[in-house]
Amino acid sequence: MNRIVPILVGATAILAFATLMLVVVPGAQIRDQAPAPGLADYTPQQLAGRQQYINQGCVYCHSQQPRAAGQTLADLAKGWGRAPTAADFAFDRPHQLGTMRTGPDLLNVGARLPSRDWHLSHLYQPRAIFGWSIMPSYPYLFERKKAAAPGDVVVKLPPEFQPEGEVVVARQEALDLAAYLVGLNRTTTEVPADARIRDEGYALSKGEKR
Ligand code: HEC
Repeated sequence: MNRIVPILVGATAILAFATLMLVVVPGAQIRDQAPAPGLADYTPQQLAGRQQYINQGCVYCHSQQPRAAGQTLADLAKGWGRAPTAADFAFDRPHQLGTMRTGPDLLNVGARLPSRDWHLSHLYQPRAIFGWSIMPSYPYLFERKKAAAPGDVVVKLPPEFQPEGEVVVARQEALDLAAYLVGLNRTTTEVPADARIRDEGYALSKGEKR
């Protein structure tokens, strides 16, 4: 094999070029991205809930990136929100954009489902809300007790899911996660004027010109 040097140089050049175009350049473009106007940083509780979201692997079934009007199966009409811009993720480290959509996109779930109690019941047992749901239940984020103590948040359940003679109480992990979900709402943030990607359908619905 007398071509080892050109092959190595060629392979290294291709890898370096790919790294430059797919990692370095996009990184430089969004590194100093200011938060979207109206976007608030996460509270400490929401950050703890976000860590639960990561720990439990919610990202394996849920994306956090509604599709723009031009894309197939656009999400605005479904009520999942406009396409986000980089500024919408300024406080997200690491981001949870996701690639799978076994369940709905969650970037604006707090806008359409703003009830903490709903999320607690759903996390404890998704089938208590939708009999057809294939989402896993997370019973270990809750505690079963004979009686609720003062300050306990009791989960509301239909009778058939209520353990007999016991109450289901949310652990701190469940309360944090629900706080994070209720806070997921980019419908009140604005698209920065210099955004590189615009959701044309959203812009038109806002009365903006093309
Ligand atoms: C195996 C895939 C899967 C995993 C893992 C999963 N989900 Fe889901 N999720 C679904 C499906 C399917 C639905 C739609 C049915 C339903 O609401 O139960 C859903 C619905 C939801 C909804 C309601 C969204 C809406 O618009 O109605 C929320 C909130 C949610 N999931 C949060 C979570 C959280 C938080 C986690 C991690 C703790 C998680 N999911 C893990 C599949 C999954």
